[in-house]
Amino acid sequence: MTKRMLMSRELVATAIWIFTAVNLVWAGPPFATDDPEPVEYEHWEVYLASRLFHDKSGWSGTSPELEVNYGTIPNLQLHLIAPVSFVAPRHSARLFGYGDTELGAKYRFFEETESLPQVGTFPLIELPSGDHKRGLGSGHVQVFLPIWLQKGFGPWTTYGGGGYWFNPGNDNHDWGFIGWELQREVFSGLILGAEIFHETTSETGGHPDTKLNGGLIYDFTEQLKTLANIQPGLGTVMIEYGDRYTNAYYAAKGGNWDLAAYQIKEAREIQEVGETTRPPRAAGLKAFEKAYLDPLDVAIKAKNFQQFDKAFKAGIQGCNGCHAGQGFPYIKYELPKAPTSPLSMKNP
Ligand code: HEC
Repeated sequence: MTKRMLMSRELVATAIWIFTAVNLVWAGPPFATDDPEPVEYEHWEVYLASRLFHDKSGWSGTSPELEVNYGTIPNLQLHLIAPVSFVAPRHSARLFGYGDTELGAKYRFFEETESLPQVGTFPLIELPSGDHKRGLGSGHVQVFLPIWLQKGFGPWTTYGGGGYWFNPGNDNHDWGFIGWELQREVFSGLILGAEIFHETTSETGGHPDTKLNGGLIYDFTEQLKTLANIQPGLGTVMIEYGDRYTNAYYAAKGGNWDLAAYQIKEAREIQEVGETTRPPRAAGLKAFEKAYLDPLDVAIKAKNFQQFDKAFKAGIQGCNGCHAGQGFPYIKYELPKAPTSPLSMKNP
C-alpha cells in the first residue's frame, strides 16, 4: 500500500465513530479533503474507528484505529493515528498487526474574517511501523505538506486545498492531492457534505484519479450536550444546598428529627445533581459529604442536638473552605436567624 490507505482504496464503509467532541465543521472520514481548523485550545478529540477497503485483491483496513487530537496552544493541534491493520487477500491468509503510525500538526496561521477564509497547514508524517513484508505497512516514511482554506456562510461551510506527498521507494512516485468540500448543517448535529478531489499517480503503472464523494455525519452527542447545558449549574444547586443545610439545623434544634434527616437526605440528592452536571467538582462534594454530612446523620439518629450543633459548625467551615479553595472567598455561608422553609420545625 503506497498511498495513505484512505485515499488509495475505495472507501466501502466507515464504521461507528465514537467521539468526545466534534467541531461544527467536519473534516476527516468520510471525506478525503481536510480543513485548516485545529481542535480548540486544551480540548481533546478521541476517535475509535474502523475502516474497510475493498478491491480486486480482497479486503484490507483498520480495526480499530485510535485517533487522538489535542489543542496544544491556540491555533495548533497535535495529531496521532495508531492503527491495528489487517489484510484479507482473496487467495491467501489473513494478517493482523500494528500498522503505520500517523503523526501530524495542524497549524492555522490566518484566522477567518468576515470576508476572508482561514488558512492553515497540516503536515503529516507516516511512520513505517507496520510490517511491510506482511502487507501491513508501506515500509517507508511518507510526508505530506498541504495548504488548507476554509470559509463559513451561515449553515454552509466550504473548505479545501491541496498538498504534496513525498513517497519514496521502488516504483513509488511523489504525488499530489487537491480537493474541495462543501457541507451544510441541516439541523443540530446532522451535517451533509460532498467533495471532489483529484490525486496524481503514486506508483509506476498507476493512474491519476478524480473522485466525487458524498457524506453524512450525525453527531449523536449534540443532543446530549444540549441536555447537559440546560441542567442547573453548581450555583443553582448550591442555593438549594444552603437552604437545606439551614433548615436541617432548625429542624434539629426544634426536635423535628425526621425533618432534619429528610433535609440532609435531600441535600445529598441535590448534591448528586451538582456532581453529575459539574464533574470537576464531584470529588470535592463527595469528600464534603463523607466528612461533614455523615456525622450529622449520626447525631440525628442519636437525637443529640449538642452533637449535631458541633458537627454542623464544623460543616460550615467545610462549606466555606471549599468556596475559598475554588476561588469564591466572597461566598460565605452564615446560619440565617430563622429557617428559610415554611415547614414546622417543632417535634410533631
Ligand atoms: C466542593 C466544593 C463545595 C462545597 C463542599 C460547598 N460548596 Fe457551596 N459553592 C461551591 C461553588 C464552586 C460555588 C459557586 C457556584 C458556581 O460555580 O457558580 C458555591 C456557591 C454556594 C452558594 C451561593 C449560591 C448562589 O449562587 O447564590 C451557596 C449558598 C453555597 N455555595 C452554600 C454551600 C453550603 C451551605 C455548603 C455546605 C453545606 C456548601 N456550599 C458546600 C462549592 C462548594
